[in-house]
Amino acid sequence: MEILGICGSLRTGSFNRLLLDHAASIMPDGVELIRFGLSPIPMYNQDVELAGLPEPVVQFKAAIEQADGIFISTPEYNHGLPGVLKNALDWQSRPRGQASITGKPVAFATVSNGPTGGVRAQATLKRVLASNFALLFPFPEFALPRASQAFDQEGRLIDEFALQQLPRLLDGFVDFVKRCG
Ligand code: FNR
Repeated sequence: MEILGICGSLRTGSFNRLLLDHAASIMPDGVELIRFGLSPIPMYNQDVELAGLPEPVVQFKAAIEQADGIFISTPEYNHGLPGVLKNALDWQSRPRGQASITGKPVAFATVSNGPTGGVRAQATLKRVLASNFALLFPFPEFALPRASQAFDQEGRLIDEFALQQLPRLLDGFVDFVKRCG
């Protein structure tokens, strides 16, 4: 089984990328977390779309379509989604009626520095994904607050709650993906 990992932050030392690194290291047997970096994806512009989907968008759509499931880890920006993630999700929804994520099982985590761990970004993400008829993994949810204290100097996850909760999320999601298949 292949799960596509998408990080909502482009930052080199992104805590969300560190979370995906940890997730990749604890995936159940037979499950691989592969990555797609969002930095090559241009800003959405319908003129560009109508002239032909840019190659990074074609690759992003193909990566989603080839994956058995999608796992997104993202920060919360200004109580919503980072533009880079919303932009990528907008692109994959095109051409109209051909969203790549339709029918795909999707789970997500948020890692943020604020005290709520990005739950408002999760609420927005749920609406965006539901509008594309993605199959949302409902529970357990995962929101990691105070991100700068949750990893050690080497980037290893050290937050006790996250260390217990992330395997529960991933195991549950893998079962969900199997049932969706
Ligand atoms: C933030 N941050 C933030 N945190 C939060 O919990 N709620 C928020 O609304 C915001 N808003 C916000 C806006 C912008 C523009 C930035 C740059 C940052 C802080 C954010 O959680 C923190 O920078 C994380 O470390 C970002 O995630 P990565 O890059 O470490 O994955």
